[in-house]
Amino acid sequence: MPHLLNLIDVPTDTIRNLVGRAAELKAERRAGRSPTPLAGKVVGLVFEKPSLRTRMSFEAGVAQLGGTSLFFSGAEIGLGVRETLPDFARTASRFLDAIVLRVFCQETVDALARHGSIPVINGLTDRSHPCQALADLLTIQECFGTVAGKTIVFVGDGNNVSMSLAVGCARLGAKFVLACPPGYAFDDAFLKNYANKVSADKPLIVHDPVAAVKSADVVYTDVWTSMGQEAERDERLAKFAPFQLNAALMAKAPKGCKVLHCLPAHRGEEITDEVVDGPQSVVFDQAENRLHVQKAVLEWLLAKG
Ligand code: CP
Ligand code: NVA
Repeated sequence: MPHLLNLIDVPTDTIRNLVGRAAELKAERRAGRSPTPLAGKVVGLVFEKPSLRTRMSFEAGVAQLGGTSLFFSGAEIGLGVRETLPDFARTASRFLDAIVLRVFCQETVDALARHGSIPVINGLTDRSHPCQALADLLTIQECFGTVAGKTIVFVGDGNNVSMSLAVGCARLGAKFVLACPPGYAFDDAFLKNYANKVSADKPLIVHDPVAAVKSADVVYTDVWTSMGQEAERDERLAKFAPFQLNAALMAKAPKGCKVLHCLPAHRGEEITDEVVDGPQSVVFDQAENRLHVQKAVLEWLLAKG
């Protein structure tokens, strides 16, 4: 059974098809057409962490495709606490046609997929954010007509968002650069997995944001302190300060370069108002694209068997 657990395990053709189908679904919606391949299907959402985009876009997307969604907070389900994960997975599989999880540990989504009998969609874990990366790829394709050959410079943390984006870029032929403070690059576990499953060429990791953005087609950033890392916030604020995406840094990037951010933005920390609201920013198109790529994912996992 196919799942969307981690982009690194999704074949390149599937990634390409999902981005292409998302563009079609976006155009259909703009034209007022709305196919309903999820009629009669029920999708559960279980979220251990806060969310605006992921929850709202999944609930809207399921509704637009003719299905029904049911939302549960992690606290009320008590994942792995009130009963074991395998028992939860087997039980939920009797009620639902698919499940979207936003959880602290990647192992939780992987275990749900192993023990349940319905498609599992990762709505963000500590290690990956595949729905975000698919939306990022669609946004880059919309900006430039293609992803292949573009240079994507992620200025920030080697986190869930940048790990998934690095995989997506490599798969669709873009050059990915992570510009981060020493100590905040991709870890060995990710690099080993990347070498095994994506490419023998490591993603480029640098520590000078000014040099990095000079050849960027896209400059991307995300929060410096991800959900679950709140205890490290003060240390991270100090270490990441030279990596703020502000007008001075953008002045070093090519004029046609676009700005992406997965949102939520911590304005005044990783990105300034003038950049997030500036003419190069496409962050709200990028947010909208979550809806379209996730509809493509739901169609892939549910409507096409
Ligand atoms: N980008 C993203 O996943 O946003 P939310 O945390 O609001 O879902
Ligand atoms: N890296 C961020 C992404 C939020 C969408 C986090 O995990 O909090």
